[in-house]
Amino acid sequence: MEDEKAKPTVQEICQKVLDDNWRVTHTIPAEGLYPHQWLWDSCFNAIGWRHSDLDKAKQELRSLLRGQWSNGMLPHMLFASSGNGSRDRQIWQAWRNPHSPDDIDTSGTTQPPMLAEAVVQVGAKLSESERRTWYQDMYPALVAHHEWLYKDRDPHDEGLVSLIHPWESGLDNSPPWIVQLHAHGRPWWISAVEKLKLDKVFLLVRRDTHHVPPGQRLNSIDALLYYAVLQRLRRKNWDTQSILERSHFMVEDLAFNSILIRANTLLRDMAHDIGKQLPKNLLANMSLSESAIEKLWDGYYTQYFSRNFITHKLIKEPSIATLLPLYAGTISQDRAIELVDMLHDKKLFDTAYPVASVPLESNYYKELGYWQGPSWINTNWLIVNGLERYGFAQEAAIIKKQSIAMVKQHGPYEYFSAKNGEPAGAKNFSWTAALIIDFLETSANN
Ligand code: GLC
Repeated sequence: MEDEKAKPTVQEICQKVLDDNWRVTHTIPAEGLYPHQWLWDSCFNAIGWRHSDLDKAKQELRSLLRGQWSNGMLPHMLFASSGNGSRDRQIWQAWRNPHSPDDIDTSGTTQPPMLAEAVVQVGAKLSESERRTWYQDMYPALVAHHEWLYKDRDPHDEGLVSLIHPWESGLDNSPPWIVQLHAHGRPWWISAVEKLKLDKVFLLVRRDTHHVPPGQRLNSIDALLYYAVLQRLRRKNWDTQSILERSHFMVEDLAFNSILIRANTLLRDMAHDIGKQLPKNLLANMSLSESAIEKLWDGYYTQYFSRNFITHKLIKEPSIATLLPLYAGTISQDRAIELVDMLHDKKLFDTAYPVASVPLESNYYKELGYWQGPSWINTNWLIVNGLERYGFAQEAAIIKKQSIAMVKQHGPYEYFSAKNGEPAGAKNFSWTAALIIDFLETSANN
């Protein structure tokens, strides 16, 4: 009896990870590997924090706004002021863009717009009057961010926002991005590195492969290609207009646009609750997005794909993004059923520990490959949230149950084998901990 009492519960283990990863104003994703503040990580972390400490949940999100650019962009990283901060600041040099903030160093790219969701989830824990104040606080930054997304990243008013670097998708090396990267011309020096087999040297300076087995991450040549994209963007001072003039590669990313559509809905609700009118242009863009996602549907493969911004060709490579229009919440029930069928298909996503980040039959599938096979708790959370809204309670419950089971057995790792739940990546990973707390709390309330 005594022993049982002493053993911490899975919720306590997850809470301890959040406590340990807290740094004054925000939660880092994981000690060592991820020392900075990341945009969508903090949104997921706040969704966990709201169950134990509302002040921290709010602080986590307010802390993101310290990095907001004067044009409205929310950068995907806010660099730590010590440790690896200075090396990463030098790599990015976001100060080359006049819109970057003066008193904090950030990256020059963004990440999925999860902020509206996090603000609303935190709001759900507040009294009505506190919620109104909270929304009023966060609303201007959110409006500026959404306006920037359309103005800067949807220059032809198509309703689909484009990304300029795979890291902006949050799903770093998922197959559609690898396909795009390989289709794009590579700089001569990367070919030289490959020829001279110098890529091994690069392993010495990579942070990720110091913390996790190199076999699970991008190979060094692909990692250098990612770096080369960053370099090109830096040369253009992180200015989308100049980037576009040289027709660098840009992708209308399915996951990002699905998340944006949901964020738009939540922002509209928020505006309504505090009696504000969203700007007319923004409203028009928002409703265009809801129909534009249908341009990403492929009738032959009966699924959605990301699209090349320049050629308008669909990138017909399935990934976890395939299921995220469920989270967008605006696709028809028929389309939702098509996606749920994929969840039930043993060749695709039906595994013991769902949801695989790449369908099993894909040529890219790799059981523990970064965003190329394992189950991630954040994409599980998004899919569960969407399934519940479309009325697929049973499917949602299974994903929740198996997510909790993996973490109960192994602890809050970064990702897990979708076949047997084997853990991999960073240990004590914050968003896994935060969202398992949320799964536990929301299952208990049901
Ligand atoms: C990796 C992930 C990204 C995440 C970041 C910090 O880059 O792909 O989604 O935000 O790590 O956890």
